[in-house]
Amino acid sequence: MNQHRSPGSATDRGGDIPDADIDELLYAEQLAGTGRVVPSGPVDRSPEGERKPRLATRYLGMDLRSPVVASAGPLTGHLPSLRELDDAGVGAVVMPSLFEEDLDQETSALVRLQAHEDVAHAEATQGYRPGGLPGARGVDRYLAVLARAKAELDVPVVASLNGTTPGGWVRFAALLSDAGADAIELNTYQVAADVHTPGSDVEDEVLQLVASVVAAAEVPVAVKLSPYWSALGDLARRLVDAGASGLVLFNRFYQPDIDLDRLSVTPRLVLSSSQELRLPLRWMALLRGRIDASLAATTGVHTGEDVAKVLLAGGDVAMSTSALLQRGAGHVATMLGELERWMDARGYDAVAEMVGAVSQRSVADPEAFERAQYVETITQHASVFEP
Ligand SMILES: Cc1cc2nc3c(=O)[nH]c(=O)nc-3n(C[C@H](O)[C@H](O)[C@H](O)COP(=O)(O)O)c2cc1C
Repeated sequence: MNQHRSPGSATDRGGDIPDADIDELLYAEQLAGTGRVVPSGPVDRSPEGERKPRLATRYLGMDLRSPVVASAGPLTGHLPSLRELDDAGVGAVVMPSLFEEDLDQETSALVRLQAHEDVAHAEATQGYRPGGLPGARGVDRYLAVLARAKAELDVPVVASLNGTTPGGWVRFAALLSDAGADAIELNTYQVAADVHTPGSDVEDEVLQLVASVVAAAEVPVAVKLSPYWSALGDLARRLVDAGASGLVLFNRFYQPDIDLDRLSVTPRLVLSSSQELRLPLRWMALLRGRIDASLAATTGVHTGEDVAKVLLAGGDVAMSTSALLQRGAGHVATMLGELERWMDARGYDAVAEMVGAVSQRSVADPEAFERAQYVETITQHASVFEP
């Protein structure tokens, strides 16, 4: 049995959020013009002087004990680090993606076996999976880790599928729910590189993909998107119409670099920084209240302050990978401690009060609002034109 630390009690290692950053948040709140008044005045405290903001949130129809979710990555694919994340207070974990390529290998192997059923070994018809194929081994291992994680962890376990095309492999969505996944995250990592494929075709494909996974899965499906879509608001709405229960914004592309010594292209993994949070923040704020789905921010969530921003902008949860890789699974407890202290200082009793407080829900024309902010920012810094 794991010794689970309450997320609320693990505050001792976190640093305070600097005043300057609190000012920035307050400024953003005024700027957004939401009319939301930041709670102020004396904070209710227990006789011991301790105050425990409620960190619980809801995501994909599930009750989570905290809004910090371990996003898909190396730490969420192994039981020891999954246990550490659980102990540190995560609200949920998202396992790394099963890739379409792996599933294709397994599918084609099973098809081959079925086609030669008459001559195949007896095991072929009794659930034997071809062991020599990396894809097949990968799927089996994945399902085994998922089942163990589900049995051992106190928090929901989200499985992730990476696909670009609708296909027979969506049946694996059913396998994932059978193995105990509480939800499925569909990771739509895709670079639309074909110069003859119009954007509408790419959108139709992803919508079809989502609809088929939703039909095959018996659990809620969240869709993880890149930011590179021409009209993200409309696509977000149509994804929800196609059955998505949540959106995870944004996938982070690993841009290849050129090795000048070898004159070759090299994939480069650069971990994120808090600076990159702004893009997901903007879209949390734009979509909150405009689509009927859960919202998760991923990319740039490194501190409790980042989590506070995500919630205020309109996210239900803040997902983190880079920070946990850099600082270890226990960093979740630090982030939660920082979040608690910020909530305490601002008089927030519960995460639920924060969600969307700085969103653009009450902004009548978000496009004009965004443009006005852009113009204001640029003109503040641009040099004055002189004849
Ligand atoms: C080493 C590594 C492996 C990752 N693997 C996956 C994956 O399997 N599926 C997925 O959807 N995202 C994957 N991600 C993306 C993360 O889940 C996350 O969305 C992204 O890193 C941005 O968040 P961050 O700024 O907290 O790192 C991976 C990221 C890293 C760094």
